[in-house]
Amino acid sequence: MPDGKRPKGSCLAVQVTPGQAHSARIGYEPRQEPGQGEVALTVLECGICGTDAEIEQGLYGAAPPGEDHLVPGHESLCEVAALGPGVTGFSPGDLAVPIVRRPCPENCDPCSRGRWDMCLTGHYAERGISRLHGMLRECLTDEAARCVQVPKDLRGVGVLVEPLSIVEKAIGETMLIQERRGVRPLRALVTGAGPIGLLATLCLRSRGLEVTVLDQRPQASPKARIATAAGARYIDDLQEPLERATAGEAFDLVLEASGFAPLVFRALRRLGRNGAMVLTGVTAGHHTIPIDVDAMNQEMVLENQVLFGSVNAARQHYESAVQDLLAWETDFPGLAGQLITARHPLGSFQEALSKDSDGIKSVVEVTGS
Ligand code: BGC
Repeated sequence: MPDGKRPKGSCLAVQVTPGQAHSARIGYEPRQEPGQGEVALTVLECGICGTDAEIEQGLYGAAPPGEDHLVPGHESLCEVAALGPGVTGFSPGDLAVPIVRRPCPENCDPCSRGRWDMCLTGHYAERGISRLHGMLRECLTDEAARCVQVPKDLRGVGVLVEPLSIVEKAIGETMLIQERRGVRPLRALVTGAGPIGLLATLCLRSRGLEVTVLDQRPQASPKARIATAAGARYIDDLQEPLERATAGEAFDLVLEASGFAPLVFRALRRLGRNGAMVLTGVTAGHHTIPIDVDAMNQEMVLENQVLFGSVNAARQHYESAVQDLLAWETDFPGLAGQLITARHPLGSFQEALSKDSDGIKSVVEVTGS
């Protein structure tokens, strides 16, 4: 916590200097009044993900124009504290999640259609990631139109709306591609049982697919237990490698969520005829591996396979995330909440950033519980 008295009209916030490793500290940000069409938000919780770790290591992220630091935090659950003039659809006390990505200044074709997740110019801003401050702060103001309402029943798991929006887009796009080709996926492989992989597992199971999940943790680990509780088969790649555990099997859909690029190509070889594989992991490494590109090319052509990447999410994906979290409270009672394996106060945000091999999602309780 910073020394001295809190300046009047300020709130506590985590600040990083983008490009500089381990620069994260707690400082003060101005507390703002909501303007026309804006809501004032109290940040209740903020989830931490691999992108935040990369920002903390100085590998990713950009400060808002004219500023020397960035407030990180893009997975949040907020409470509406006050309404600016002209706001409809929100009341004080409502739960809300600000959408991460904002349209580019050029308002390119996808951005103008509300598909900023498909922005063509790359000049978009992302809250807590690039060019726009995020939610690891006690309070902020935002345009009401850029916030998604979350029912109060989801107070315990609403912080998962943003990571789930990423999954909703990745699976939604895969299903759209497959529907257009007349293919109905029945068997799925999910590589990586972190938050994205496990949320994808719940999503695919609730859509009736048979799911196999792969990670490098033992069968007794929390990750494996959540996967099996959702009705999926779990493979510990260290105990029995993917190739052996799934010998003779082929998958219609592969969702890569390990963020470990060499695994992408191993998983790709498990894809069956007419299969589609979606990559969701944003990685900052430079791994090189020898691969049999001829075999890969031949298989992909002769088996009509699709390989594509998916990033970010549009409003519709946030809304599907809210609907799924509500449905899962009945379909998989308490399971989504088990993904949150640690909650830390704002003053201990560094602990939320440090890796715990059995942990799944760490959350910072920004303004207490
Ligand atoms: C966020 C996305 C973002 C991506 C790339 C992810 O961690 O969830 O919203 O688009 O990072 O910056």
